[in-house]
Amino acid sequence: MAEAHVLVFPCPAQGHINSMLPFAAALLDTGVFVTFLHTDHNLRRASSVAGSPHLRFLSVPDGLPDDHPRSLGDMMELERSLREVGAVRYRALLASLSSAGRPSQDDSDGVDDDQSFPPVTCVVVDGLLTWAIDAAEELGVPALAFRTSSACSFLAYQTIPELVELGELPFPAGGDLDEPVRGVPGMESFLRRRDLPSLCRRSGGTGGVDLDPILHVFAEATAHSREVRALVFNTTASLEGPALAHIAPRMRNVFAVGPLHAMSSSAPAPASSLWSEDDGCIAWLDGQPDRSVVYVSLGSLAVIKHDQFAEFLSGLVAAGYPFLWVLRADTVAASKGQHTTPQGSIGAVGEDKARVVAWAPQRDVLRHRAVGCFLTHAGWNSTLEAAVEGVPMVCWPFFGDQLINSRNVGAVWRTGLDMKDVCDRAVVERMVREAMESDEVRSSAQKLARVVRRDVSEGGSSAREFQRLVRFIKELSMEGAKSDHQNQG
Ligand code: UDX
Repeated sequence: MAEAHVLVFPCPAQGHINSMLPFAAALLDTGVFVTFLHTDHNLRRASSVAGSPHLRFLSVPDGLPDDHPRSLGDMMELERSLREVGAVRYRALLASLSSAGRPSQDDSDGVDDDQSFPPVTCVVVDGLLTWAIDAAEELGVPALAFRTSSACSFLAYQTIPELVELGELPFPAGGDLDEPVRGVPGMESFLRRRDLPSLCRRSGGTGGVDLDPILHVFAEATAHSREVRALVFNTTASLEGPALAHIAPRMRNVFAVGPLHAMSSSAPAPASSLWSEDDGCIAWLDGQPDRSVVYVSLGSLAVIKHDQFAEFLSGLVAAGYPFLWVLRADTVAASKGQHTTPQGSIGAVGEDKARVVAWAPQRDVLRHRAVGCFLTHAGWNSTLEAAVEGVPMVCWPFFGDQLINSRNVGAVWRTGLDMKDVCDRAVVERMVREAMESDEVRSSAQKLARVVRRDVSEGGSSAREFQRLVRFIKELSMEGAKSDHQNQG
């Protein structure tokens, strides 16, 4: 039987890598070989210790200079550069790795092709990298799309043409963001304008007449998934059953296999952080009472203004609980006339009450007995990680899918509170207290954790979906091998 070898290619961003690397690790347990494709820049930053002879890391250039910040504001530049420069290398790499009669080790295209790996038989590509999906199919390699954000946000992007037809989009200039939104199936009872992906709020500059061009890019990438052989979500039916039920009939094949980081595997998942983790915060947590600490993190991309930072800090101090805050060097935008750094302001609160780190081992932090709630931007990974650990959330969504995730937390799962669009010390204080003290919120969070953990354990819905996906991949691999054989014959 032909051996299956999957090339896994995420968008070069932390949130995408953190979703797709556990997927790669789960595949290893099924005997599949995996090549995980980073960009050169990220491969230099991330650990490339595979920990399994069936896993390796390779990379393609993203086309940007090494000192380029690759921050949120540069995402379109990164996307364009990767599509123009990285795509050429990706195509050459895939052509070389997938052909059954591969060139020898010191081939002329410069690919370090480890011959102990069989040819690539299938690719699983981030659904936003539509060109990489198309290139694979053009080369005769079956391609699946993987979406790292929630199924609900996918459904919202998918529904954009209908929302335009219904007159829900673009939002009227100066209109009320609390107005309910019609047209997103299964979500009409709770979705307001302010819960739609943040790009929906931006008009094209003609008084709300046109949609933001980037929204079109997202909507087109989402529509592209309709043509793809299969679409994989890092979610589970217990969290997003209604959204999945609405998406599935419009797709060729949908698999809900998450939360992948919680799926048990025989080997520890390879490290995925692009920043170096400060483990010292675990020792600090060890010294704190049970469920006494507020963990604060806004993910890998959000950048806040100094006055927003000041509101959060004042609210946290007023709430009175010790807190552990992740502040990347670029989390708080530089502000003129500011003499104290954000790190210095937190330090002034005192080591017993506050700890700041540049990057934390977040999954270990959320699992720690001392953590009582999570003040988060509601990125999809963070939302899943809190759900698995049963940690109540206070959500301050920053952009994109986070706005719909936080609505689910506050109004559907009721595992936390949604602070959307408000950044005020009194609200921070009130919501943090409620998340720390409400038996109702904690019990919903713990109940959801039990359900979600069952989904990924043996016989659970995501575990079964994952097995179905592996069979699908192995069948594709066999078909590919058969046609290679016939072509050679
Ligand atoms: C963004 C989106 O919001 C997300 O929904 C989308 O799918 C990918 O892009 P990001 O803003 O980085 O991602 O948030 P999130 O999805 O929560 O991912 C952050 C990841 O970094 C999480 O896995 C979290 O555990 C990890 N992290 C964060 C750390 O390991 N340490 C930290 O200190 C902070």
